[in-house]
Amino acid sequence: MKQAVESGEPTPEGIHHDENDFVWIHLINRENVTGGINGIYSNEKKPLESCTLNKNMDSIVLWDPKVMHGVTSMHPKDPTKNAIRDVLLIAFTHCPGLQLPTGNPVLDYKEIKANINPPALAEHGF
Ligand SMILES: [Fe+2]
Repeated sequence: MKQAVESGEPTPEGIHHDENDFVWIHLINRENVTGGINGIYSNEKKPLESCTLNKNMDSIVLWDPKVMHGVTSMHPKDPTKNAIRDVLLIAFTHCPGLQLPTGNPVLDYKEIKANINPPALAEHGF
């Protein structure tokens, strides 16, 4: 957000799923912001929990199929200054068909490589 007349909508889609198995939300920086409150909801959009990520690396981990989430609108505290809210999102989805690790790094690597998703990565030697 750069000007007082602006507001930020971190999740313009509203309460949602990210369509992953797990989602990590880490705050990197927050300056001069009001709002930007993270909400966690049931799959019926009933509020379960809310919190504000205030300090660097304040984090939330979501089991995405089990809960929905969203973030409220943000506004600058001091309208003469820029407002900043940077987050790092990491999403994880398991590879269907992937076997449990054997403890043998070579066998485990071959199993992961054979089942990696999307297949295009395996086609290119990853
Ligand atoms: Fe999301």
